[in-house]
Amino acid sequence: MADHLHPAPPAAVRLTHYTEAEKKEILGDGTDPFGVAYAGLTWLPKEHHFGVRLEGRLVAHAGLFRLPMSIGGDSTEVVGVGGVAVAPDVRGRGLARQVVTAALEHARTMGPRHGLLFCRRPLVPLYERLGWRALDQDVHVEQPGGPVLMPLRTMVTPLHGRAGWPAGAVRLLSFPM
Ligand SMILES: CC(C)(COP(=O)(O)OP(=O)(O)OC[C@H]1O[C@@H](n2cnc3c(N)ncnc32)[C@H](O)[C@@H]1OP(=O)(O)O)[C@@H](O)C(=O)NCCC(=O)NCCS
Repeated sequence: MADHLHPAPPAAVRLTHYTEAEKKEILGDGTDPFGVAYAGLTWLPKEHHFGVRLEGRLVAHAGLFRLPMSIGGDSTEVVGVGGVAVAPDVRGRGLARQVVTAALEHARTMGPRHGLLFCRRPLVPLYERLGWRALDQDVHVEQPGGPVLMPLRTMVTPLHGRAGWPAGAVRLLSFPM
């Protein structure tokens, strides 16, 4: 709860751009800030960006991308959420919640019925707390050499009402985001 010791986190805003330098501003220039290098995947850049600035410094980011999918053999689209990042010195203050909430508000205007993200297993409880649900099935994604099994957890959230996730094989028809 917000009080004078724990003020409410500043609201996230839409960013006009998100450069490699800004990503380093948040996460530093380590080689694997998301801890997913082991998966050896090729990723898409994001299309829409949301961020939180504290005293002019960008400290949090979430990105969106509209993605073609096949679910149970039917072609559809989802809004992919990715690049969720909060600077290490300001983690645990609700900033991931702020940026993901702002990104999802925009995602609701984009058309698709669901948001989708990929994350490492230890982050599943965090995203569950934000209203996401882990899919308990294999998910394939495109890679330069053809489709591969996604080794990260796939999580989904409805963007409109309580839209249920359709049954059937799930395949992202693009690189992951
Ligand atoms: C993952 C990351 C974005 C989280 O940022 P953060 O600002 O610390 O997260 P928040 O403080 O907004 O926490 C979000 C919610 O999850 C909850 N939460 C955090 N860790 C949790 C855990 N292990 N289990 C359950 N809930 C957890 C928080 O309490 C909060 O819920 P609340 O708002 O209801 O209290 C940050 O650690 C990060 O940038 N990591 C490196 C990059 C990365 O791995 N990104 C994820 C890509 S998918």
